[in-house]
This record gives sequence, structure tokens and C-alpha cells, in this order.
Amino acid sequence: MARHSRIEYDLMRSQSAPARVLIVDDDDRERDDLNTIVTELGYTAEVAENGEQALEKLGSTEVDAIVTDLIMPRMDGFTLLRSLLDRGDLTPAIVLTGFGGIREAVSIVHDLRAFWFLEKPAQRAALDPLLERAIAQKRLMVEAENLKRQLGREGQLEDLVGTSEPMQRVFSLIQQVAPTSTCVLITGESGTGKERVANAIHRLSPRANAPFVAINCAAVPESIIESELFGHEKGAFTGAIRRQPGCFEQANRGTLLLDEIAEMPLAMQAKLLRVLEDSKVRRLGGNEEISVDVRVVAATNRPIEMAVKNKVLREDLYFRLNVFNIDLPPLRHRKQDIGPLADALIRLLNKRNDCRVTGLDPEVTALFMNYSWPGNVRELRNILERAVIVAREGPVLLQHLPPSFHVPPAEAPIAAPVAKVDDSSHLVLEPGKRLPEVEEAYIRFTLKHANNNRARTADILGISLRTLYKRLAEMAAAEKSANSAVLAGGPK
Ligand SMILES: Nc1ncnc2c1ncn2[C@@H]1O[C@H](COP(=O)(O)OP(=O)(O)OP(=O)(O)O)[C@@H](O)[C@H]1O
Ligand SMILES: [Mg+2]
Repeated sequence: MARHSRIEYDLMRSQSAPARVLIVDDDDRERDDLNTIVTELGYTAEVAENGEQALEKLGSTEVDAIVTDLIMPRMDGFTLLRSLLDRGDLTPAIVLTGFGGIREAVSIVHDLRAFWFLEKPAQRAALDPLLERAIAQKRLMVEAENLKRQLGREGQLEDLVGTSEPMQRVFSLIQQVAPTSTCVLITGESGTGKERVANAIHRLSPRANAPFVAINCAAVPESIIESELFGHEKGAFTGAIRRQPGCFEQANRGTLLLDEIAEMPLAMQAKLLRVLEDSKVRRLGGNEEISVDVRVVAATNRPIEMAVKNKVLREDLYFRLNVFNIDLPPLRHRKQDIGPLADALIRLLNKRNDCRVTGLDPEVTALFMNYSWPGNVRELRNILERAVIVAREGPVLLQHLPPSFHVPPAEAPIAAPVAKVDDSSHLVLEPGKRLPEVEEAYIRFTLKHANNNRARTADILGISLRTLYKRLAEMAAAEKSANSAVLAGGPK
């Protein structure tokens, strides 16, 4: 006997049961006529007299398509469609419009994402093909949802990999929140995958076809952050040679990631809160209020409650953003993910670098499982990128790892030979070195000491996070050019 997985059963069931159509109309006669047509077409009809009743029905019954009037008492069709959008309910809705209301109907399809419109009174010949297409669309969406859920259980959700229990919990939170328009606050140490999670939320949401825009609040100079977020009009300030829409307008209908939210200047935080409250932005130097439909996701690697306590992050903004929190566990707390992550990263890096590396040698796996990964998945990826390029094929062996991986961490040279860490974990500087080299060694040492938490590192060093970012970018660029020089001279 053929065996079927649960997902196949779900698909078979959804394909065999008659589709259910919800008719929403306050006029008894029109409702009855529609009921007759829908039933004659072989579907099961459900009826509601207004938007409110329709939402109740949708809460308790699986519906494949909606046919709705627009003008109704209590809750009209516009509000019903808006509520469906807010809830992330993608059930296709066919809208019935009065004679000559084509213009309005087009805007409903466009702005409120109705499936299509029909002029009243709806004729069976017109409704038949429309319902057929709407129902097919809904069923495809359900199938896609089921498949994604299945993949999530197997350790993959969009670009995210993770079989550990904490990551499975994260996957389930992403799947719950993605269909809605709720603000999400993603927390977690640097390199744990916060931006990836934000992207997965976007891609799994009804906004997936609209833009995903990310802005790093720590990396944008304070003087231009307002114009970056809200845009500016021509001549708003010196150098504003043309009108420029900001991130909110660019992300319209899509998702905006506000990365490193705790680094946003306080004055901007107040303005941001206002935009989040009324979904309207005003460009710098402009008078017009522009309506925007943006889902905001914020991320931070700072301990967020501390940022609120230290008055770096406004408490009211924190509450507004923290409607739904996803906290990403550090890699050292989910070591079960190291294997699957390494496999997925090696596959990706093989493709990017035209290599044929097969996986990790058992000795390397053992070393990876004993390491604390202060830089989390980003550090794993960087180490594997180097290893794949050096190995080119076969397994990743110990010799393909950076030298600091062969020796216990306490003895690992930091920017050798400028400085080294002694037995009691103190940084010992070599005399006769140039100041920038010593500074670099000290920054690396402090980063490691702070578990790669950049905000804490900046606090300890007494510099702004922005300055730290700048220095790290310079260091990374110098390291990259040194690495490529080594690789260019290395074995082919
Ligand atoms: N679960 C995951 N599956 C696959 N790759 C991942 C995962 N998590 C993170 N990565 C990889 O790690 C890198 C860092 O991820 P990301 O930029 O999302 O981290 P972050 O938490 O935003 O870091 P930061 O706080 O420094 O901005 C990315 O290049 C991504 O490839
Ligand atoms: Mg990030």
C-alpha cells in the first residue's frame, strides 16, 4: 500500500473537499442570488451580512474565496479588506461594485489587494471563471505554506539553517508573525543572523513582492539619518540637488529593517515613533504628509533593556517595536546547528568560488564543537570561506583553518607579532611597533573580551559605535587585501 506523508494527506484533502465561498452582502436578495449561483457552481456557500460577521466566519471556518459587496452597514467592504491585509489573511476576495465604479475598483485591487472586481449584479458566467481562478490561487498558497512548514521542520526556513530546538522555536515564531504586519524586534549577539531573520519574515509575508529595505542606524552619520529615513525635497539643505524619497517611501508596501536601532539619535527616535503611530512621513523641507504602508522590523545586538535603562533608547519606542520579540540564541548555545550550517555554507561557498569541497574532516568537526564562536554564524562563515578557497576540493582539514584555530585560544596570537595574550589572558605588547598596529591589536583584544559585542566594545574603549564600525571596516579591508595577496601567491 502506498504510504503518504502528512503533507501529502493535507494536499489530497485540500484538493478533494468542495471549495468554500464566503458571500458578504447586506442586501437579502442579492445575497440569496449569489448563494444560488455559488451552490450551482458546486461550491459550499457561507454567508455574512457585513464585514464584522465575515471576520467572525473567517475566524472559525476555512474559506477558499470571498465575494463581497462594498457598501454595507457596521463594517463595509473596504474595512473588511484592510482587516484581512492586517491579519495577513490571503484569501482572495472578489469585490462587487456599483455601476460605473471601475476607477474605484481598480484602486481597490491595487491598494487593498482584492483579487478582482465585478459589476453588480454579478452574473453566473462572469463569476464562474473568476471563482475558479481565485480558489486555485488560494489552494496553491496553502500548498506552498505546507511545503515551507515541512522544510522548516527539516532544518531550513528560507535562507536560514538550524535543526536545534532553539532555532526550531525561532522558525515557528517567524512563521507565526510573517503573515501579519506587526512590528518585530530581533535581538541577539552579533553574527547570529538577525538580518537573515528579518529577510525571512519579509519573504514569507504577503509583502514579499514589494521591497525589503535595510538601514543601519549606527553606520549612517547623525546629520543625514533623517533624510535617509524620511527623504528630502530639492533644496531642503545644501547639496539637496533633487527630491529624494527616504527608506520609508522606498519600502512602501514592503518591509523596512531598522538595524542597530539603539544607536538611533534620540531626537530621531521621537520622529520615528510618530511615523509608526500614523503611517505618514514628511520629507525634509516638505509640507506634504505622505501615507506609507511599511512593516517595520528592528534589530539590535545591544542588551535592549539596558539601552532603555540608560536612556539610549526611548521607552515608548521600545514598547512600540517590541510587540513581537525574536531572540536569536548565540551559536555556542546551539552547537547542534554547527554541522548543518557548515554543510549549507560549504555548498554555497563551493558554488561562489567554483570549488568542490566535500565537508568537514572529523578532526575539524571536533574542534568546531569545542569552540565558543564569539562571532557566531558570521565567524563560522568567514572561517569556512577561507577554508573552501584554500582546500578547493576534498574535506576541510585542520591545515585549512586560520593559524589561530590550531592553538588553544589563550595562546592565539592577536595581530602577531604586535601583541600576544599571555597565560593569564593579559595582552602583552611588543615594543617597537607603530601606534595604529597596537591600536588594532587592542581593538581585537577588547572585542574578543566583550564576546564580540560591538556596543560593549565601544563602551569599554570610550568611542562611539560609529567610530568602532569605521575602524573595523578599515581593518577588514586591510585584512582582505593581505589575504588576497597570500592566496594569489599560494598553491593553485
Ligand atoms: N541560521 C543561519 N543559516 C544560514 N546562514 C546564517 C544563519 N545565521 C546567520 N547566517 C550567516 O551569518 C552571517 C551573519 O548574519 P547576519 O548579518 O544576519 O547577522 P546579524 O545578527 O545581523 O549580525 P550583526 O549584529 O553583526 O549585524 C550572514 O552572512 C549569514 O550568511
Ligand atoms: Mg545585522
